[in-house]
Amino acid sequence: MTPPSKPRLFITRRLPDAVQEHAAKTFEMTLWPEDRPIGDAFDQWSVGMDAILLMATDRMDAERLARLRTHVKALATYSVGNEHIDLQAATRLRLPVFFTPDVLSDAVADIAMMLIIAAARDTTRAEAILRNGEWGPWSPTAFLGRHPGGRRLGLYGMGRIGQAIAKRARGFDLAIHYHNRTRLSSAHEQGAQYHATLDDLMRVSDVFCVAAPATPTTRKSVNAARIALLPRGAIFTNIARGDLVDEDALIDAITSGHIGAAGLDVYAREPNLDPRFKSLPNTTLLPHIGSAAIETRVAMGLLAVDALANFILRGEKPRNCLNPEVLH
Ligand code: DGY
Repeated sequence: MTPPSKPRLFITRRLPDAVQEHAAKTFEMTLWPEDRPIGDAFDQWSVGMDAILLMATDRMDAERLARLRTHVKALATYSVGNEHIDLQAATRLRLPVFFTPDVLSDAVADIAMMLIIAAARDTTRAEAILRNGEWGPWSPTAFLGRHPGGRRLGLYGMGRIGQAIAKRARGFDLAIHYHNRTRLSSAHEQGAQYHATLDDLMRVSDVFCVAAPATPTTRKSVNAARIALLPRGAIFTNIARGDLVDEDALIDAITSGHIGAAGLDVYAREPNLDPRFKSLPNTTLLPHIGSAAIETRVAMGLLAVDALANFILRGEKPRNCLNPEVLH
């Protein structure tokens, strides 16, 4: 008797070797071979697959999901963010979508702290001077940044990533303030001060950090009126999604000096960031590397592949599901 064939898994981008090897043990794996987002070729490549592991760069709209539903049993996204997926449509179609929470919170929080320190201490400008061969003799008044300790950190979003940032920031003597859809229990707040509105949070944020998910409600919620509420000279950071911020307003505020320095890992139109960001000297700009630590990217892949395998092969109900109602 021929053994039952493995379920077919399509992965839309090359992943760390350890993840691909792990997936190939359980699934008959097909990999999009090119080192760029798959785009419209997705529709052709996904035909006949049982499961799909997709990236945050792959759009899953209602029509595409409906086409997949004829053969696909579950999807997983190699991300914690899920704004690229029409989740309501997936739920209507009873298509489970798994994601990769928790395993990336520490890596993203590390980058948030790095951006806060880099922006406060003006390290990007200092490094450029060194690299350009313009570094002169030591001077008591050169390269003067600001010390972040003792300032108020305003976290817009206090989910897993926000809490991991708060944990680190306490070690730098920042006072933690936050705004979140729901107030945390005092055990989770750990002394952080809750603000019921984003406006209130922004008024007290000497250092402001965007750590909330991109949703239709949060889109461009950090707008010109709210940016104007920040204390003059505030440090602005974003490790979540560029979509949450009105970038024209942000650029205006950095240019005018209302925002003293900015550290950004995410942009509204990636990878084509607004070129004005690059001409502003007091910005530290990273290319969306929050989760880009090898240990983290492996852990994300294993979590996603195991969720698909546990659901499809073992009928389990993995916890890392964005629409758990379809598992019941
Ligand atoms: C995430 O997991 O959402 C990261 O930002 C990668 O897209």
